[in-house]
Amino acid sequence: MPRLVVVSNRVAVPDPEGPRLAGGLAVAVNAALKHREGLWFGWSGQISRDGVDNPPAIVERRQRSFVTIDLSENDFQEYYNGFANRVLWPILHYRIDLAEFTSVDLGGYLRVNARFADALSRFIRPDDWIWVHDYHLMPLAKELRVRGHDNPIGFFLHIPCPPPDILLALPQHSETVGALSHYDLVGTQTQHDADNLRQYFELQGGQFGGRNRAYFDLDGRRVNLRSFPVAIATRVYARTARTAVRSDFANEVRDSLNGRSLILGVDRLDYSKGIPHRIQGFGQFLEQFPRWRGHITYLQVTPQSRSDVPEYADINQTVNTLIGQINGRFGEPAWTPIRYVNRAYSRASLAALYRMARVGLVTPLRDGMNLVAKEYVAAQDPENPGVLVLSQFAGAAEELDGGIIINPLEPEAMAAAIDTALRMPLAERQARHRRMYRHLSAHDIDRWADSFLSALMESRQQPRLFDNIRQLFAVR
Ligand code: G6P
Repeated sequence: MPRLVVVSNRVAVPDPEGPRLAGGLAVAVNAALKHREGLWFGWSGQISRDGVDNPPAIVERRQRSFVTIDLSENDFQEYYNGFANRVLWPILHYRIDLAEFTSVDLGGYLRVNARFADALSRFIRPDDWIWVHDYHLMPLAKELRVRGHDNPIGFFLHIPCPPPDILLALPQHSETVGALSHYDLVGTQTQHDADNLRQYFELQGGQFGGRNRAYFDLDGRRVNLRSFPVAIATRVYARTARTAVRSDFANEVRDSLNGRSLILGVDRLDYSKGIPHRIQGFGQFLEQFPRWRGHITYLQVTPQSRSDVPEYADINQTVNTLIGQINGRFGEPAWTPIRYVNRAYSRASLAALYRMARVGLVTPLRDGMNLVAKEYVAAQDPENPGVLVLSQFAGAAEELDGGIIINPLEPEAMAAAIDTALRMPLAERQARHRRMYRHLSAHDIDRWADSFLSALMESRQQPRLFDNIRQLFAVR
């Protein structure tokens, strides 16, 4: 089996001392590297002192190498805070209104991609397969090709891909989204995302071919395009939740609830997650269904994120204000409707919270997949499962049809969904959970990684097969 080289902006270098932290990309990459010799390359998360270009740091763990580089302060501001998180992130999440483009930031983004290619280049062997992850690194294949690497290179976009009308609003999009044509395979989360990207490529002059128009030719290159809904290690997660729910941490939370039903939200603090709309929906629920007052507790777990980006500071303020208003309006001396914590928890602690929660609120305004939804389902007790309330705008809604699917922009719908979830009879909860759990067991993270890598292999064979046939006819 060839060695797999994974590239992503962040690298989860294993820390034998620390807890196993949550995070979809890390879970996905670890599954891809399981049973394979591999190298994971990316940013160390550190800023180098100005003018000092530290050599890559290398950590070896079992059959894997973790290679990371530092970024300079300029790189960090222009590539990460600037272009990746103030332009690509909002636009790909359908928020053109929040995009703050500068050509300096785009320059920084392209420069860091070239730096990644320079630093990675010397680690690449001719028979490696390369798998690049997420929006930070769209032009990386182009940079690697320029440096002479003809390896199979795949790309997976963890976040949504909007329709072409929105993509075309991205200044100089051919340098970023357009550069995806240098990969052999581009994977998206949902079929909807793949259709949007296909239409964009078509507008750029791409010619489609193959069964189900699976690949397209553009400027002499051939790229395959397909959806691969990212998944979780379903059975492992279920086992973790079964154990974690008996931990001291879980007992303490359970005691503190005093018999009240737990309603839970877990999200990075990000405007795409729709936290203000969710809190308003929860306020509407207390207003519309007063009999639940005092009988439920809504816990919102929200680690801070990207706090150097102004839009993230704004959302922090908005959320704090809204929670204060609802707690002030509905709270009693002996009951606080919303508990809000800004810390990140280990996978095990989150699994325990999911299992204890009678209702899981996953209501983003836009989300590539949302693995909280899948983890919430996997963590439930099949004998007495909780109910998932899921936004129609999360990629997970294409799969998790046993959740109550809502439009997060409609507070009344959110309120009614919470009430329905709390009242749902046991038999219906079990039936919905069984259906979703079965799906998640059959479509787990190992299958996801295997199917992407098989498609990458096929995408390399396909053009060669056609070339061979073409050559055969040319000779005759
Ligand atoms: C999303 C992205 C990931 C990113 C993560 C955390 O899930 O798809 O690529 O790593 O958010 O964001 P951060 O900016 O902290 O890496």
